[in-house]
Amino acid sequence: MEAIILAGGFGTRLKPLTYTRAKSLLPIMNRPMISYIVNQLPDEVNRVILAVNYRKKEIEEFFEGNDFGKEIIVNEEKTPLGTGGAAKFAEKHITGSFFVLNSDIISSLDMKKMVDFHYKNNGFITISLWPVKNVSEFGVVDIEGDRIKKFVEKPRPEEAPSNLINAGAYFMEPEVMDRIESGRLVSMEKEIFPKVIGEGKSFLGYRVSGYWIDVGRIKSYLRVHRILMEKTGKENFVGENCKIQGKVSGSCLGDGVFVGEGTEVRDSILYDRVHVSEMAKMKNCVIGEDCEIGRDSDLENVVIGDNEVIEDGSMIRDKKIWTQKIPEGYPEEQVGNVLKR
Ligand code: GDD
Ligand code: MG
Repeated sequence: MEAIILAGGFGTRLKPLTYTRAKSLLPIMNRPMISYIVNQLPDEVNRVILAVNYRKKEIEEFFEGNDFGKEIIVNEEKTPLGTGGAAKFAEKHITGSFFVLNSDIISSLDMKKMVDFHYKNNGFITISLWPVKNVSEFGVVDIEGDRIKKFVEKPRPEEAPSNLINAGAYFMEPEVMDRIESGRLVSMEKEIFPKVIGEGKSFLGYRVSGYWIDVGRIKSYLRVHRILMEKTGKENFVGENCKIQGKVSGSCLGDGVFVGEGTEVRDSILYDRVHVSEMAKMKNCVIGEDCEIGRDSDLENVVIGDNEVIEDGSMIRDKKIWTQKIPEGYPEEQVGNVLKR
């Protein structure tokens, strides 16, 4: 059985962190986000197709250096084909019913049970569902029993049919591929799902129980750390060779991080080799690799890309910091899933 992992987005809502790495390689407790999804796959899945484009090489290298006990195929799109187009582009590797998975979701979804549910109920497509308060950033369903009657991607508030959203994991029959045009940008959510529902096919919803976090935004990226760290029962998650002289709480530190005397780091994520000088304050921040944070600085709700230097005594609030060149071809706005309205 195959799983197509959609790992081709630019992660524009996670910039500047994604200026220098693929979204799916963003660390969560010092492990690339994509490794959580691959580890979650049921044993039946013996082949994983990584639908990639932006920073493909690094994703490939990660899988070359880490064995997950499954065949890994790196399927590169020359230009982003969208969530549907990327799945279609992987068609040649599909041998039967298959998964399609967003790569920016951390959840307790039991994929084996989802497959059982799909077969038991004769599904054509089964998608995972999760309830949220504010649905406007998601795909939203109208459901009767287990059967989805309507799917609307990123609806305006007045258009949202319920508070149940697409949780980003699909199990599909191979004939779904016949509905996707090849060679162009196709949104699974905006084009294919409504089309399949319109045909009257069995389009089912499977509810996730436990936890579900979309890691596509900085806020949720911080939150996923909080939730997973709580599970470890430890106050912090600290990598190797760190030197901590100040106070660190609720935070995740990569390898080789330095925190100077009198400095307080709270609820933050510090990547490898971040150096925070003395008497600084930091709260709710994500700090990229090799950054240097000056003494006496005070940072709150700040995201800093790799290799930046923050001057001594800087007071910064609610800001994304990137002073270097933006990589060529990096888009201003989301491309793959959402076609601009
Ligand atoms: N290969 C490839 N090519 N992958 C892509 C492309 C592309 O052109 N565009 C997006 N992706 C990947 C992203 O990396 C992500 O893993 C997944 O497809 C979904 O794209 P996002 O850009 O993250 O979409 P979203 O978060 O706005 O919305 C999606 O996820 C929500 C749940 O988090 C939709 O599926 C919503 O319906 C859903 O509710
Ligand atoms: Mg997303």
